Amino acid sequence: GSLEEMSIPLYFGWFLLSSIQDKVRCTSMDFLKTLDTLEAFKKHLIDFTGKAEKEVDLEQYFQAKGTLHCTTEFCDYGKVEGSKEYANNPAVKESYGSAFELSLSALFVTPRTVGARVSLSEEQLLLWPADAEKEGESASLPLGSRAHVTLGCAEGVEPVQTGLDLLQILALQQEGQQGELIEEMELGSLTYYGEGRWLLGLREPICAPACFSSFYG
Ligand code: A2P
Repeated sequence: GSLEEMSIPLYFGWFLLSSIQDKVRCTSMDFLKTLDTLEAFKKHLIDFTGKAEKEVDLEQYFQAKGTLHCTTEFCDYGKVEGSKEYANNPAVKESYGSAFELSLSALFVTPRTVGARVSLSEEQLLLWPADAEKEGESASLPLGSRAHVTLGCAEGVEPVQTGLDLLQILALQQEGQQGELIEEMELGSLTYYGEGRWLLGLREPICAPACFSSFYG
């Protein structure tokens, strides 16, 4: 009935506690500010602007909205295939409302999105849907590869793009493309993967306390 349909959310995920949200936003802003000033980034500016001479302010370029979270299952109130099964999965029901510690292991930037990669633990992988990595050219990536927190999107870009951008970078790595190591920054090592794709592997992953819950909108 309609009440049953109502009980399936827009999405399930881990929602970062507010104090750590501030820290993650600050780290991301610092990274964008630094990236903006690097000669290597300026050399590839055309990826972001479409024009060689134009400048870009990355902090303005990306818009952030809502609370920071790592989506596990996008359900669209039960319209997405498999989402009812996910909502009824015993592991999901048991963990609902529980606290977790997410490990944010990298930051990545593309002309479309900026996000943080989440490295899931074995326990956290129990809440990860089996088909999340099936989209795009990433069919053979390990379970959990897509896990991320969207930190911002360029104008006109939907947040679903962040996970796809991450999968693209990981697929390149899997194909053996090492990328171009640009420099060792205070936060970690910065690598360029072409076409405006940048990845900063964090020297010290950010430990982010988060509550497993859902969002209805
Ligand atoms: P993400 O998890 O990358 O942030 P929206 O605001 O567009 O309705 O999206 C709500 C949340 O669900 C966002 O966090 C978004 O992306 C995620 N999301 C939206 N569509 C999908 C999808 N098709 N597959 C996976 N996640 C999605």
